Amino acid sequence: MMTPTRKTLGLAIALGLGLSAAGQSANAACTYKISNEWSTGLTGEIIVTNSGSSAVNGWSVGWQYTTNRLTGSWNAQVSGSNPYTASNVSWNGTLQPGGSATFGFQVDKRGGSAEMPTLTGSICSGTPPVTTSSSAPSSIAVTSTSRSSSSTPIVSGEQCNWYGSLQPLCATTQSGWGYENGKSCVSRTTCAAQPAPYGVVGTTSSVPRSSSVPATSSSRPSSSSTPATSSSRPSSSSVISTSTSRSSSSVSCSEGNNPSCYTSSSRPSSSSVPATSSSVVATSTSRSSSSVATTSRSSSSVPVGPRLDNPFVGANWYVDPIWSAKAQAETGGSKVSGYNTAVWMDRIGAIEPTDGSYGLRDHLNAALAQNANVIQVVVYDLPNRDCKALASNGELKQGVEGSTRYRTEYVDKIVSIFSDPKYASLRIIAIIEPDSLPNLVTNLNDPDCQAATDPTYGYIANTRYTLSKLYPLTNVYSYVDIGHSGWLGWDDNFGKAVTLIGDAIKGATGGVNSVAGFVSNTAGYTPLYEPFLDSLANSAFPGSGGGTQTRQATFFEWNPYFSEVAFVQAWRTRMIAAGFPATIGMLVDTSRNGWGGPNRPTAASTSTVLDTFVDQSRVDKRTHRGNWCNQKGGIGERPQATPAPGIDAYVWVKPPGESDGAASLELSFDPQDPAKGFDRMCDPTYTYSAGNSTVATGALANAPVAGRWFKEGFTVLVNNAYPALQ
Ligand code: GLC
Repeated sequence: MMTPTRKTLGLAIALGLGLSAAGQSANAACTYKISNEWSTGLTGEIIVTNSGSSAVNGWSVGWQYTTNRLTGSWNAQVSGSNPYTASNVSWNGTLQPGGSATFGFQVDKRGGSAEMPTLTGSICSGTPPVTTSSSAPSSIAVTSTSRSSSSTPIVSGEQCNWYGSLQPLCATTQSGWGYENGKSCVSRTTCAAQPAPYGVVGTTSSVPRSSSVPATSSSRPSSSSTPATSSSRPSSSSVISTSTSRSSSSVSCSEGNNPSCYTSSSRPSSSSVPATSSSVVATSTSRSSSSVATTSRSSSSVPVGPRLDNPFVGANWYVDPIWSAKAQAETGGSKVSGYNTAVWMDRIGAIEPTDGSYGLRDHLNAALAQNANVIQVVVYDLPNRDCKALASNGELKQGVEGSTRYRTEYVDKIVSIFSDPKYASLRIIAIIEPDSLPNLVTNLNDPDCQAATDPTYGYIANTRYTLSKLYPLTNVYSYVDIGHSGWLGWDDNFGKAVTLIGDAIKGATGGVNSVAGFVSNTAGYTPLYEPFLDSLANSAFPGSGGGTQTRQATFFEWNPYFSEVAFVQAWRTRMIAAGFPATIGMLVDTSRNGWGGPNRPTAASTSTVLDTFVDQSRVDKRTHRGNWCNQKGGIGERPQATPAPGIDAYVWVKPPGESDGAASLELSFDPQDPAKGFDRMCDPTYTYSAGNSTVATGALANAPVAGRWFKEGFTVLVNNAYPALQ
């Protein structure tokens, strides 16, 4: 069941249509509801209820608009292009007497007002609309008196009043851009076009920012000449790797801002955070070492008992119906739409959405309805989230307020839902805070990352809180994010990461048993293997006569890990050496690291020039390994358990087709998620310096805000899948 309609902005209209049965043995009510409306579009849902006395097997609903048009749907198979027909998907076709199915849709109003079409079809028939009992006032005009006309010229001192508080003005010197949303500037038109309270234009006495280019500084190449380890995602550009002799431990740590200089002495001590390693009592450490154990849980109590060594063995993977429907609607999408993808809890509002879209319980309930036993949930809302980049900036900021809200409104809420005994049969894979701890390893030159080292409110303290809360739920398996080989692969980064991430986990109440393992390449593009290069990662370039290491190639920048499998296996070994149990396993996000298609090399290059040899031989066709936004990769290995030693599973954490970030400032506004910003690493026209070269971001054009559906991006991924899709 979807979350009942509630009003966020007081704009909802909920009208229903009468019912009758046609061609079915049972009567059904078909109700068309608008859940959330804004100036140009709306989302809604159609509810089909079996009000007869016998079961309905299969249903379909039809409707037609005058001006409005459908732009998306979920939980039903929709065909046609006005009129439309929606029929059940495999798991919601059977309606017991009194039972109902709900599917959702999105509409572009195309300049018209919200229409309430007549519903027809095998199960409903077009009787005049009636107001449903759960409805809001039947019609609420979108009158925002405080909204100014979008045609008014920009007046210095005006700005968007996001969330009702006046933000500092963006640079007014840039023509057309004068309104700030967190770190992004938007146009007056964009601002005024948003529903209240987002689009209020107000005035401020605050002085306009002097920095004239918003939202780019953190992704701009640093002028620092530190010959340090490349920091790759986010902002590979911030650190220069030289291709001349650097030893793996050569970084000088006298420079205060050197990202590689995060020493144990500057790290928040574990004693200053609530849960210390000394307080660890491994209450249920008995994780079975046998690969499968039975979960045998009663459905009427909070789960108890040992965790499985590898929760993916025997997996019946959940298929997220929302993502699946979007994939299904694209060319070639049906080849991937049946696979598991993670559910991202990327803001407090995602847990229990008020716009009728799927929340956490909806996903868990759908998993039960599908008889699934494995569901992946991404925990992703730390204060100062995405501290080095801007595209996925989060809603919470460092400090007591952000931290308290993270704990009480976000983590505790998720934990209370996970604790519901009815979900005890699900193995819930919790992907813990992508990119956060790795940013503390390499990106402390960024003030937002530096702030996230706060011993009380920072990433480590809050990650410990999350792990400590999840640990007692023995059907929850936490995997902590470790970036990827192109970020943490250098020896000095690797060593610091092992210590920092290991110590962070040891400080949670479950200590080393708090985690089932680690996840790499989340939302990343680094391939599992470089088939023609991996064997040379730690040896001389064959064409050099022995004097040059292959990893000296510009593309690898001395990094001894060319790909993910070798990296995660080495990581696991190091963590076991650091005290973690041998039962830990690794996950690799393979949703977009396939690198197939016509440009995939089929043999090693024969060049005797190192860079040419590497560039022609590598399957990873990025211009730089630090490029992370909307790359032209391909769908990778399908989700699967135990694909290689030490690896619990290949998983799809990033749902293929969802954007990494907006390609331009103009595209960077999302009323649902106004914290998201514009990062120039997502701008296809942007270039930056890395080492001795200037590289392009390689990002695809026209991409929407992070997390939003990116049709063209999905097509690229499908076309470049490796292994090829069947
Ligand atoms: C990005 C977005 C987030 C989204 C996720 C999956 O990290 O910031 O909102 O859910 O990707 O697409």
